[in-house]
This record gives sequence, structure tokens and C-alpha cells, in this order.
Amino acid sequence: MEDRFGHLISYLRISVTDRCNERCGYCMPSELQEWLSRDEVMSYEEILRVTEIGARLGVRKVRITGGEPLTRRDIVPFCERLCRVAGIDDVGISTNGTLLAKVQPDGRTTAAALVDAGVRSANISLDTLDRETYRAATGRDYFDRALAGIDAALEAGFEKVKLNAVLMRNSSEEQLSGLVNFAHQRGLLLRFIELMPVSTSDVLTERNFLPVAEALRLLQAEFGAFEPRPDFKTNGPASYYAVPGRGQLVGFIGAMTNFHFCDSCNKLRLTCDGKLRPCLGSHLEFDLLAEIRRGADDEQIAAFFRHVVERKPREHEFRDNYQPGRQMVAIGG
Ligand code: 5AD
Ligand code: SF4
Repeated sequence: MEDRFGHLISYLRISVTDRCNERCGYCMPSELQEWLSRDEVMSYEEILRVTEIGARLGVRKVRITGGEPLTRRDIVPFCERLCRVAGIDDVGISTNGTLLAKVQPDGRTTAAALVDAGVRSANISLDTLDRETYRAATGRDYFDRALAGIDAALEAGFEKVKLNAVLMRNSSEEQLSGLVNFAHQRGLLLRFIELMPVSTSDVLTERNFLPVAEALRLLQAEFGAFEPRPDFKTNGPASYYAVPGRGQLVGFIGAMTNFHFCDSCNKLRLTCDGKLRPCLGSHLEFDLLAEIRRGADDEQIAAFFRHVVERKPREHEFRDNYQPGRQMVAIGG
């Protein structure tokens, strides 16, 4: 599927739940969170059907997100089925990591069970190596669980384990080099992510915003000049740099400051309540689940997909005083 601006759509991010066991300020509002009721959320059968139809239209890669996807019941058997969908050759998961080390009834860690199910990559969020900062940022004292989750992921043998760190002024600065070293020691691919206005949270202020260029400058002051590596691409919009004197690459996701950020976008998002979204930073969303539940056949669902792709914007609207309509936790990061 190709949109009006030449974006080739091959990547579907699927949120399987709006629930999370943490409360990151930039993702959820601090007020009482109202969860979706069970029947408002897509069933696994519905998600699989959408994925099958997406695959026939050229979707090759799927990433499971949340909320925290590992809080949803039977997520492992679901992943197993998802990995078997014809045409889908890469399934990954985005997680806060806190449940990856949890032991399943059969004795495997959740990470190992996901690998056995066919999940190839895990993107794990870790913004800080300081337990107290972690607790303050996530609202939970789960730092040890997150670290254990990272170890479990490494042990489980995912093809790729990435670390995602969201940049926050007056907090991230002193974490940058520690995170780079932590990632280096473990062979993890670290990416720094600019704060995006995707939640109604009061954390999303100009004051808390730390541009990737500044993070890069701070790191270079410590490690020496980073070498841009435009040749290195993952499936996403990160720009990678090599840390001098080591084989390590570090990514920078400058959604707010990089004007070419959207050029190579290949994504669609499916929210846990079944809205197909052509772009994270646009209010456009289309109620695919309503189509499915009114009995649409596969051809109609395929037409729905194409329609959404046709409406995909050239770029996100984050720079135009964008006001979020939905929390990140309900879209899927
Ligand atoms: N800005 C940038 N990244 C965010 N994430 C959640 N909320 C935001 C935000 N407002 C990140 C998480 C996780 C990924 C799924 O999305 O930290 O790494
Ligand atoms: Fe949960 Fe991730 Fe959102 Fe934090 S950023 S509240 S861990 S979904």
C-alpha cells in the first residue's frame, strides 16, 4: 500500500491493551485513569483477522504494544498465532520490561516464552538507571523488575533487544552516559526519544522538553565526537551514530526537531479499541472495529485499510501546537 506522499506501508503497530502496570507521567494523565471495558477492546481473533488482511495488502512487520502488552491475558499464545500469520515475517514487542522475567506456569520466563512463540525483537523502555528517578517517573518501584526483565530478554535470545529512553530536561541529562554504558555492556541498541505531545499529561511542557541534538552534544562532551551512520537503519525513524572507540551505535528519535522525520514512515497503528490510525501525530482515526462488528467481509476490510492509507498525512502535526486527543497509553507507543 502506498499513500499520496509515497510512503510505503509495511508496518503495523498493534496496541493490545490500554492498561499498564506503571504510570509514566508522559504517557498517562495523573488523574484517575478510565480503562476501556473488555468488550470495547479488540479480541485476539479480531486482531488476527485484521493482521491477515493487512498482510495480504503488504504488511510485513507487526509490533505489539500497549499500554503494557504483557498485562493482557494469554498474550504469549496470541503472539504465537500472530507469528504464524502468512506474510508477516517480523513480530516484535514494545514493553516496559517489568514482566519479562516473570515465570510462566511451565517454568519459562515470559521473555523465553515470547522467543519460543516466534517474537524476534523486544523494545524495552528504560529512561534512567537511578531507582528513585525511576520510581518518580513511572509511579512504581519496579526498577529491579525492569532490570531483571532486560536480563531475561538477553538470556531468552531475542534477535534484537533495544532500549528506549525518553528524554526529559532536568532528569535525563545525568542519565545519558550511564545509559550508553549500560547498553554497551549488554550489547543493547539504545535509542533516545524526544518527548512527544501524545497525552493530556501536565508533564508534556516546553520546560521538560530536551531536544535530541542537545542530548547528542552532552554525550559528545563526554565521549568525543559521535560519527553519523546514515547507512544504519532499523525499521523506525531513528538516526544512528557510532560512539567513538567502540563498536556501539546509539539512536536518536527526534520526532519534534527532525524535519525529515516522517519522510520514510511506513506505519499504520491499530489502537486497542480497533481504530486504525494513519499517524501517531494526527487526530485522524478510523473505526475499523465497528466495520468488523457490523459484519464487513475481508474485501470491505481491505478497502477500509486502503482508505486509511489514502488519508495518511505527509507528516505529523506535533509542531503545530498539537493538542492530543488520546493518551499514549491508549494509542500504543
Ligand atoms: N513521548 C515520547 N515517547 C513516549 N513513550 C510514551 N509516551 C511518550 C511520549 N509522550 C514511549 C515509551 C516507550 C514507547 C512505547 O513510547 O517510553 O518507550
Ligand atoms: Fe506504561 Fe509504557 Fe505508558 Fe509507562 S510509557 S505508563 S510503562 S505504557
